[in-house]
Amino acid sequence: MLNIFKKTNNSNDNFELDYNNIPKHIAIIMDGNGRWAKKKNLPRTFGHKAGVETIRKIIKECNKLGVKYLTLYAFSTENWKRPAEEVNSLMGLLVEYLKKEFDELNRNDVVINYIGDISKLPHNCQTELVKAKEKTINNNGVVMNLALNYGGRSEIINAFNSLLSNLSGEELKNISITEEMLEKHLYTAGMPDPDIIIRPSGEQRISNFLLWQCAYSEFWYSDILWPDFTEKDLQKAIYDYQNRERRFGGI
Ligand code: IPE
Ligand code: IPE
Ligand code: MG
Repeated sequence: MLNIFKKTNNSNDNFELDYNNIPKHIAIIMDGNGRWAKKKNLPRTFGHKAGVETIRKIIKECNKLGVKYLTLYAFSTENWKRPAEEVNSLMGLLVEYLKKEFDELNRNDVVINYIGDISKLPHNCQTELVKAKEKTINNNGVVMNLALNYGGRSEIINAFNSLLSNLSGEELKNISITEEMLEKHLYTAGMPDPDIIIRPSGEQRISNFLLWQCAYSEFWYSDILWPDFTEKDLQKAIYDYQNRERRFGGI
């Protein structure tokens, strides 16, 4: 039967990736954990746990493919609106993840990094994050940016504040801020903008993610819920990306 409703994204399993055109920076909005659990009549936290398994697979795949940066949206500045039990369980899961996965991540040469205002996270989260970052800073594999208490708007405001705080009164009067100046104060300073932003779970919105950096990112959506997302889905997104024409405003 002709299935006209089938999404083109997910319909073709026979493709070959161009290994000379792997995106340097992939960003993922890891969404759909709660709905995945609900479908199975499980508490939402089970969905978050299952989501962590997906992270493990996707990092490995990125390393294999030679992706340089992988930014994972794990907790937004708006996610504090969730019930305290869910927030607490997410924070607990983060600490557990960093403790349990550290050795393997380090063995796989992953650089563990974070973006966002982590000073609002529970103390033990902060210590684990700082420790993991320090210990892996000289690794050479994929840089995993965990976006935690991250919001694109607050990142831009912080960048402005940090830029302005370095200037004297006289300098402030004459300043004309450039894009390059501001970029140096973003959490992602020194990193390329994401080539592709992936959002599973059927939602097609940016939810305050990488607002500055997404100016020319390619977007890729899928109905798959994050715990069900596989290496193959990542490859499909990359394949799709490789078949797009990026014009950056040119012709
Ligand atoms: C994404 O899954 C994880 C976080 C935002 C922490 P959700 O928890 O948003 O899952 P849904 O969207 O409710 O299914
Ligand atoms: C975005 O997902 C944030 C993360 C995945 C961490 P949400 O589930 O919070 O986004 P909305 O509320 O559906 O836009
Ligand atoms: Mg969600």
